[in-house]
This record gives sequence, structure tokens and C-alpha cells, in this order.
Amino acid sequence: MEEIHKIQTGISTFDEFSGGLPEKAIYLITGGPGTGKTIFACMYAYFGALKFNEKSMIITTLDSREHILRYMKTFGWDFEKLDNLIIKDLSKIPAAEDFGSSILFNRLMEAVVEAEDEVEKVSRIVLDSATSVISLYTDPIRARRDLIQLTNLLRRTNATTIITNEVISTVHQMEEYLVDGVIRLSLIPKADEFIRMLQISKLRGSNHPMRQIPYKITGKGIELSRQTL
Ligand SMILES: Nc1ncnc2c1ncn2[C@@H]1O[C@H](COP(=O)(O)OP(=O)(O)O)[C@@H](O)[C@H]1O
Ligand SMILES: [Mg+2]
Repeated sequence: MEEIHKIQTGISTFDEFSGGLPEKAIYLITGGPGTGKTIFACMYAYFGALKFNEKSMIITTLDSREHILRYMKTFGWDFEKLDNLIIKDLSKIPAAEDFGSSILFNRLMEAVVEAEDEVEKVSRIVLDSATSVISLYTDPIRARRDLIQLTNLLRRTNATTIITNEVISTVHQMEEYLVDGVIRLSLIPKADEFIRMLQISKLRGSNHPMRQIPYKITGKGIELSRQTL
């Protein structure tokens, strides 16, 4: 059997838990608001660039570039210091359609093509978030058609992609069967507080733990509980 090469996300406790992610694939981070999707995705890009010197591109559709830079500084990470980390800001693209696809979708496709054309190829792509792209469609068939086009284009790049997906309604979901892996983040009520839980619910080409693991978001970002690793 051929061994699939796995990459480390750079989120050390997640890498210990998962054993890494098979490369050149597309992963979805899914969860409700405030579960840590943006932080997870940004850590993946940042540590990829910092620790492994892999060129990374964050395509942000919700938060502006300035917002991301300021937000990540609250963890002590200076994204501007890394010249192998690119932030493509699509947060100001008008929510309009153009020849049946949203303008945002077309700009997103252009950004992925640019990632491929970079002199030094982009190894890590982050799309935060798919929800803001999908929710612009009134026609679910069109949304699906464009999502298939997007995942096909991402597969042609040599990058490993993380896409975030906000769980708000069942109508505007990123289709989980289109991706190679799904990581679920959730807030579970327990006594008088919520606990954060992470679960890998799909990972093609790899044996992966099925259990839920508690995690925290601290001044150092996302940390999975070491006791249960
Ligand atoms: N600097 C910080 N220190 C500790 N926790 C933080 C910090 N910044 C954000 N958080 C926590 O992370 C949550 C938001 O995470 P985020 O990744 O932005 O969520 P989303 O899943 O909506 O993208 C906040 O609700 C808060 O609990
Ligand atoms: Mg977010």
C-alpha cells in the first residue's frame, strides 16, 4: 500500500492528535460562530510559513486584511513580518452576481489561479470562509456547480487547503462529500458552562481518531487537551 505523505499543520497538539493531514487535499473546518475556525485556519497558514517555510495564502472573505492582522496580534503573531504569507482581502467585494456566478466567487477563483502562478508555489491555501461565498446564491444547483468548480481548481494546485464553514443553516452548507477531510469544532453545554470539543469526522487516506477531544482557545491560540491525546 502506498503511504500518503502527511503534513504537520503547525498546531502542535492537533498534529499529535491527528498524526498530521494527508497533503494536497482539501479540508473543511466546520462549527458555529466563535468556535475557533478563523484562529485554526490562520494558525495553519502562519505556522506553515514560520516553522516549515511553506508559502501560504489566506483568502479572507469576511474579515478585512487589517482586521486579521490586528486579531492575530492579540496572540502575539505578526503576520506582516512573514514574506512567505500572503493575505488576499476579498471582504469588500460587492454581493452581486455576474453571468450566473457571484462576483465574489469569480474573484476567489482568480485568487486560486494566482496561488498557482506565484513564482514560488503556494503550499497552503486558507479560505475563510466558504459560508460568505455560498450564502450569496439563491439557486442551490448553481451554488453546488460553483463549489465543484472551486474544489476542482484547488485540486489542480499543489497546495493543501483549509476551508472554514460556518454552521448557520442546512441550506448554505459547504458540501462535505466534496472535500477530503472534515474537522468539527463545537461548543457543548456542561453544567453552567460550555466546553469546546474537536472531532475529525472524515479523513481520506488516513486512520484517524474518532473520539472528541476538548480544546481551549488561549493567548497561544488553539490547544487540544494534552491529558486526552
Ligand atoms: N486573544 C485571544 N485570547 C483568548 N481567546 C481568544 C482570543 N481571541 C479570540 N478568542 C476566543 O476565540 C473565539 C473566536 O474564535 P474565531 O476563530 O474568531 O471563531 P470563528 O469560529 O467564528 O471563526 C472568541 O469567541 C474567543 O472565545
Ligand atoms: Mg471566523
